[in-house]
Amino acid sequence: PRGGKLTLLQLRAAHLLLRISVLCFSELFFMKEPHDVTVMRRDAVILDCQAHGESPIDVRWLKNGVEVLENERLYLLSNGSLYISEVESRRGDKSDEGHYQCLAQNMYGAILSQSARLTIASKCHHAGSTFETQRCDGLLMMGS
Ligand SMILES: *[C@@H]1O[C@H](CO)[C@@H](O)[C@H](O)[C@H]1NC(C)=O
Repeated sequence: PRGGKLTLLQLRAAHLLLRISVLCFSELFFMKEPHDVTVMRRDAVILDCQAHGESPIDVRWLKNGVEVLENERLYLLSNGSLYISEVESRRGDKSDEGHYQCLAQNMYGAILSQSARLTIASKCHHAGSTFETQRCDGLLMMGS
């Protein structure tokens, strides 16, 4: 009957409103997000991630959209940041270069951080600012 359909619609609307308000109250947000970094090969690097919200919050890292698997060189710190002890620049999958994102999740939902680019300064390249900085395999050279 028609009345039944209307009730179902109303139920759906109520359900939607409830979901929206839950999303608002859960307030999962990032206090710290990773930023672009340029590191020397074999240097250590920490990519920051700190989410605030209803605990427990599960933090995971994605590299180029794929979940990062921890190993003896690369792991998640207890505060959510990602630690890479010796940055690798080998070609292919072994390279640590790429775009990193942190994924935080609690019982209400999940948020994805901005993407931070990790660049390894093993080859000569420019990272221009007020003065020109050229990094060449372990050497830092500055010109005017
Ligand atoms: C997590 O801990 C590491 C090492 O103690 C620190 O360098 C990093 O900044 C911390 N991360 C956050 C998000 O505070």
